[in-house]
Amino acid sequence: MPWKSKEELKGKCIGVLMGGMSAEKEISLMSGRAILKALRERGYEAWPIEADEHLPQHLVEKKIEVAYIGLHGRLGEDGTVQGLLEVMRIPYTGSGVLASALSMNKVVSRKVFMQNGLPVPPHIVLTRRERNMFASKNLPFSLPIVVKPAQEGSSVGVTIVSGEEQISAAMERAFAYGPEILVEEYIKGREIAVGVLDDLPLGAIEIVPKIQFYSYQAKYTEGLADHIFPAPLPSGDYEQALDLGVKAHGLLGCEGGTRVDMLYREPGRFFVLEVNSLPGMTDLSLLPEIAKGQGIDFPDLVERILLGARLKIPLADD
Ligand SMILES: Nc1ncnc2c1ncn2[C@@H]1O[C@H](COP(=O)(O)OP(=O)(O)O)[C@@H](O)[C@H]1O
Ligand SMILES: [Mg+2]
Repeated sequence: MPWKSKEELKGKCIGVLMGGMSAEKEISLMSGRAILKALRERGYEAWPIEADEHLPQHLVEKKIEVAYIGLHGRLGEDGTVQGLLEVMRIPYTGSGVLASALSMNKVVSRKVFMQNGLPVPPHIVLTRRERNMFASKNLPFSLPIVVKPAQEGSSVGVTIVSGEEQISAAMERAFAYGPEILVEEYIKGREIAVGVLDDLPLGAIEIVPKIQFYSYQAKYTEGLADHIFPAPLPSGDYEQALDLGVKAHGLLGCEGGTRVDMLYREPGRFFVLEVNSLPGMTDLSLLPEIAKGQGIDFPDLVERILLGARLKIPLADD
């Protein structure tokens, strides 16, 4: 059910879902406020909606007809809110239930990437039970390693471990966010993010963190990371980054605007880290910066994503 025109959407009551219950709540509030402002500037009737446990009531009370999802992390980016909106038959922006769930889970999305020949960092998956049997000497790669939860974002729970004695605490931190963790080879390389909009590559940006890695702090503190757009890669490699980004987005079935994180080791070697199905939409965020570099300003980007809002699970009588 694509919208016939912007005018058709201008008559609708749009709810910007923000906040939520994940570790990225504060970031979501920033994304949500920026989205709300852009929509209002463009003449849409948009309202903030707190995505707490009373979300269904808020949607009914405010008579929301279209949901713009400004959430990040679990219970927002992971397919759950998308499922709720499908049941309530409220069209929403971005990816559907399955694509969202796949993107949020780094263990499963990696399997999809590997089965389709996309390069990922060498890694193992550990459950809490397997943790007790873990010995770093059995790892198929050596220290330093990266320990991270299977399902989180914004570098929450991610630790770079260079000494044996830090492994246990790093695992503890990652297991705090769920029953599965990834232990992977530390890739000494450059950090690249590819923006994808409506299945087409927008561009690739390089992030140069000024501290150890692109941590939560570096992501959201102005000045702790430099961004270079377009990423200064040799031209064949730049194309390869875009190609990998679109493939990763497509393999998971994503829609709307996404950001694919990868590491790059010259020449021509990439490692796909993850697809962010609801990337940050704050002033410091990468997808808006990539879009801007391509002449799409923030309100344009927000509007483009809004125009893609729809239900993804058809009913027999729809
Ligand atoms: N295998 C790795 N080698 C080197 N750095 C890594 C690796 N995995 C993650 N990182 C660093 O940690 C950051 C967050 O990791 P990522 O897998 O993208 O999780 P998140 O969902 O938290 O963003 C990356 O942007 C990068 O700076
Ligand atoms: Mg990331």
